[in-house]
Amino acid sequence: MLDMLTLRATLAASYDLAPSAELAEATRDIHAKMDRVVPYADWVRYAPYVVAINDLKKKRNAAILAHNYMTPEIFHGVADVVGDSLQLAIEATRVEADVIVQCGVHFMAETSKILNPAKTVLIPDMDAGCSLAESINAENIAQMRAKYPGAPVVSYVNTTAEVKAASDVCCTSSNAAQIVRAMDSDVVIMTPDQYLAQNVANQVPEKTIVWWEGSCIVHERFTAKDLREFREWQPDTRIIAHPECPPDVVAEADFSGSTKGIIDYVAAEKPAKALLVTECSMASNIADVHPEVDFVGPCNMCPFMKKITLEKILWSLHTMGQEVTVDPVVSEKARLAVERMIELSAK
Ligand code: 13P
Ligand code: SF4
Repeated sequence: MLDMLTLRATLAASYDLAPSAELAEATRDIHAKMDRVVPYADWVRYAPYVVAINDLKKKRNAAILAHNYMTPEIFHGVADVVGDSLQLAIEATRVEADVIVQCGVHFMAETSKILNPAKTVLIPDMDAGCSLAESINAENIAQMRAKYPGAPVVSYVNTTAEVKAASDVCCTSSNAAQIVRAMDSDVVIMTPDQYLAQNVANQVPEKTIVWWEGSCIVHERFTAKDLREFREWQPDTRIIAHPECPPDVVAEADFSGSTKGIIDYVAAEKPAKALLVTECSMASNIADVHPEVDFVGPCNMCPFMKKITLEKILWSLHTMGQEVTVDPVVSEKARLAVERMIELSAK
């Protein structure tokens, strides 16, 4: 656990982090990418951190890989690469910097390390976990294999390196159906997200899919009833759901896709009103690109993603701390499962 008092005192002694109207003015172009959702008064507080992080990034030869659920000041202010889990995994194989700062959750940082064993991978907060990754271990994979002999194991990237290493191939929400179709078996084991598995089963009826009973604490909270009521109240709203939502929720939606799929759908369709049935920052991060779209309705916050803040990113770069390591033997096996996914999804 980070000692926030020491962290703040050390940063304050090393950088000028006081709110600054001057720096906010000098970085107006960055603020323009989020001014629909980040008030100028907040930008005055964020700008000194953004400037300090961007300077330190150059000194450390570091690149920031940020997931689409990061808050706007991280997503637009300091990230070098943004994307969904698949994009971040692919970009991790292309990064030239010596240091990767993963702004996302721990399994994403592990994936970057697995794909770049020689690089230093930092995560601003080691406690940025994931309910899916925590729901299963390598022993559970062995239990599933024993129950369904010969069936390949397709594990969501939202898993630890040990679970990836025990799996045949990984998948993300943007390629899950494609990966399952590519398996040379009628029965396929999907772990750990029961809802992603059930949604894929609806898309790939020719296979028998069996699953582990994990779930995402953000997406499992949406209900089909809520969406039906919202549609009755606002019939002209386009409802767009992430496939980690239960299948009856996805059935109520006009479209379901990964966070990149959601971004692409909004860009292509430009609905007047859109309800993004996913994490709250998703709509905030694309609000300025689509001033014509009204992002309406409820969203749920991921407490793990929200552990990553500008202050902790600066601390990570300042100390070169919170380094993510993976046992080399586990890493090598996990790499095969991730690379197989990247290969299959490129076909
Ligand atoms: P994608 O960005 O791949 O859609 O995944 C969402 C997610 O749950 C990340 O934690
Ligand atoms: Fe895990 Fe869900 Fe948070 Fe993604 S949104 S990190 S799947 S808990």
